[in-house]
Amino acid sequence: MNYSKGELLYEGKAKRVYSVVDQNDVVWLEFKDSLTAFNAEKKAELDDKGPINRNIATYIFKYLADKDIGSHWLESPGERDMVCRKVEIIPLEVVVRNTLAGSTAKKFAIEEGTALEEPLVEFYYKKDELGDPFISDDQIIALKICDNKVVLDELKKRALRVNTELKALFAKANINLIDFKLEFGTLPNGDIVLSDEISPDSCRLWDMDSNEKMDKDRFRRDLGGVKEAYMNVYNRLLDVKSQ
Ligand code: TMP
Ligand code: ASP
Repeated sequence: MNYSKGELLYEGKAKRVYSVVDQNDVVWLEFKDSLTAFNAEKKAELDDKGPINRNIATYIFKYLADKDIGSHWLESPGERDMVCRKVEIIPLEVVVRNTLAGSTAKKFAIEEGTALEEPLVEFYYKKDELGDPFISDDQIIALKICDNKVVLDELKKRALRVNTELKALFAKANINLIDFKLEFGTLPNGDIVLSDEISPDSCRLWDMDSNEKMDKDRFRRDLGGVKEAYMNVYNRLLDVKSQ
């Protein structure tokens, strides 16, 4: 399909969203080089981060499609571009954790790197002004953020399926999938699909041998070598494909 980029609809922290000429049911995403953390209190520009994340997100959406897990992804035309089905984003950040790290490790004063026996799913309310607070299942239903419990349970089930597939994929790349964040959106026909992006911006990825961080924590924690780490993730994923 030949898509042409229309007008700018919205600019987020990591992507710009454009309309697509003569196609009302799709959007054109442009991956920016900006890197932000702590609700954009910390910001930087990182050359080629956009194209690297676009490549990784494309790889992962295609991989998941092969496993029958649908997403909004349709095509990746330019080097920092992705054409996606237009969805209404459900304002939840669905976090899956295999190993404790980041906010939950801190909240319960448990050492980072403590493995969980079963993956843990958590929801955060996607609202920048509030700093994306944790939200309980009952709060999601009471505040009508999700239509009903069935939809909420479906989100959890899907997130766990994505986790199973991605954990296996990253393991082949000698990477431990510590945790990650997903977003889901609703299509005009009511179907729910995986949306936004999956990349080292939205995952914690540790080298399986050295536990070295290969994700946005390198930026959050001033560890340096951010671009090299992201490139390394992509190159390892490409190696998996050619195996
Ligand atoms: P957390 O430990 O800070 O709650 O983050 C859990 C996972 O979610 C981690 O892989 C990073 C990702 N994440 C995002 O993608 N966006 C966000 O705004 C936050 C806070 C976390
Ligand atoms: N995504 C959030 C931000 O850009 C928080 C984070 O990832 O640390 O500010």
